[in-house]
Amino acid sequence: MRTPFVAGNWKMNMTAAEAVAFLREIRRALNQIEGIEIAFCPTAVALPAVADVLKATKIGVGAQNMHYADSGAYTGELSAAMIKPFCQYVILGHSERRAYFGETDENVNKKVKAALAHSLIPIVCVGESLAQNEAGETHAFVSGQVKAAFAGLTAAEMSQCVIAYEPIWAIGTGKSASAAQAGSIVGMTVRGAVAELFGEATAQAIRIQYGGSVKPHNIADYMRHPDIDGALVGGASLKPSFVELVQNAVV
Ligand code: PGA
Repeated sequence: MRTPFVAGNWKMNMTAAEAVAFLREIRRALNQIEGIEIAFCPTAVALPAVADVLKATKIGVGAQNMHYADSGAYTGELSAAMIKPFCQYVILGHSERRAYFGETDENVNKKVKAALAHSLIPIVCVGESLAQNEAGETHAFVSGQVKAAFAGLTAAEMSQCVIAYEPIWAIGTGKSASAAQAGSIVGMTVRGAVAELFGEATAQAIRIQYGGSVKPHNIADYMRHPDIDGALVGGASLKPSFVELVQNAVV
């Protein structure tokens, strides 16, 4: 049985003070929801404050990125060891990082290995653009991203990882993929690629989230799909109604 997992990706939103005020408002209600794992991924500077405000809860914390090196001349970057005291997860390869900050499959693969070496759980994002979707390239492209991100891992390492399938055309657009559409890519393409690399048992063990315009009113549709194990939620994780979203995720 895979425990459902909903993570809020705050992106470049919320100062540390805003994060603390927001989480004080909703942490108790979230903490009472059974049968689901929950995490927030704030900006790096808010990680210590968020870890502190959530410390007496079962709600986890994730970073939005990290560097693959342990230390060195990488101005502006953070290593796994630097974020580790404040979080259990790290989002890697988000489409915004790939599009705006030159993140490549090769970098993502190095970061996955570094995260695992520091006992951080990577949430690796994959997903196709609208043009790729319309050209019928989704399966080949997403399958390639999965295989590149996890190349060289052992099956035991792979089973620690979480994957978020986020079609780029559905992120922040209000145009979510249908549960059937998303579920079939998650099952056949994403889980399929993991099965090809690591075998069916590992593919069945790992959790795969859907992401892209997930809201309180549509989360249950995704969660009812047997292959979708949770969601990576952007905009809707910045509002108090995120509590309702998580409640609706337990189906
Ligand atoms: P969205 O973002 O929920 O605002 O579409 C999802 C994401 O980018 O992780």
